[in-house]
Amino acid sequence: MPATTGTDPAAAAAHLVAGRLVALPTETVYGLGANALDEVAVSRVFAAKNRPSFDPLIIHQATADRILAWVSELPAGARRLAEALWPGPLTLVLPRHPAVPDLVTAGLPTVAVRVPDHELTRAVLAAVDFPVAAPSANPFGYVSPVTAGHVADRLGDRLDYILDGGACRVGLESTIVSFADPARPVVLRKGGTTLEELRDLTGGELAVMTHGSSRPAAPGMLSQHYAPATRLELIAPGQPLPVTEAGTGHAVVGFGPAHGPSRGDFVNLSASGDLAEAARGLFSLLRSLDDRAYRRATVQLLPERGLGVAINDRLRRAAAR
Ligand code: TXA
Ligand code: MG
Repeated sequence: MPATTGTDPAAAAAHLVAGRLVALPTETVYGLGANALDEVAVSRVFAAKNRPSFDPLIIHQATADRILAWVSELPAGARRLAEALWPGPLTLVLPRHPAVPDLVTAGLPTVAVRVPDHELTRAVLAAVDFPVAAPSANPFGYVSPVTAGHVADRLGDRLDYILDGGACRVGLESTIVSFADPARPVVLRKGGTTLEELRDLTGGELAVMTHGSSRPAAPGMLSQHYAPATRLELIAPGQPLPVTEAGTGHAVVGFGPAHGPSRGDFVNLSASGDLAEAARGLFSLLRSLDDRAYRRATVQLLPERGLGVAINDRLRRAAAR
């Protein structure tokens, strides 16, 4: 049975209390939520996504106080980031409280925690007395959803309720910073909080380790992830875009005022060169390449600054084969 879509936080909370799966809007992407303390519900999340059980989940709550009750240690640097950036597109990896189920953390000594910034979902979280485990609401390895329709398209028959909170404001997943070693914060995933913002808050002390191996610290680090079926070819910023024949199944994606507005098989991620607009449109674009059955797309990378860093990261993973 396909999920019901609605806009009622009380209904969403009731489903979670009953051990059911609910898609929740956040400022980053839609999550596939379950009661993090209910191992049966959490195992249904892994099954719905086809997600390997070695890949741990982020837990969410409405306030920093409530989510930090699930960690056993809060280094000063992590506290500073939480105070400055929550609610917002930041996930902190911290030593776990023993009450967090092993299934959620994949047996790691740490847990990933976050306070999302979306009014409807914060109402849901405030109404339940448990943290909500929520990976992005997409089949494992596919592009994250940024609308309720995206969730329904690819996962709609595997969950119970979709809370429709409109299009996600940021459009990229949260940035993940690990304090597994409190003296050495490490960025595990680039995302909706920029490295520039983080470096301002940490006084520049911040390692970036977003490329893992076979058992990565964060499987969002797998070099192929977030991938549509359309084959992507990336070209450097400033390099000329190819000219394509209409109707050949080849799309071209550019960025910035040099290329003019979207038309035909050409898509401009932001004609005004606005990185936030490009971030909001990226995952809808990747999904629409598939939905419109493009065989290939030539995509120009964005400038490596601000949100351009995370956008390029997703494009490189989407292009990796
Ligand atoms: O923006 C987001 O973070 C969204 C929304 C729904 O909150 N969630 C999301 O979850 O992107 P997911 O499961 O698709 O990605 C979470 C990433 C995974 O790559 C996972 O491996 C990593 O976080 N992760 C979770 N717990 C971890 C831990 N204890 N140590 C290292 N990485 C962890
Ligand atoms: Mg994901």
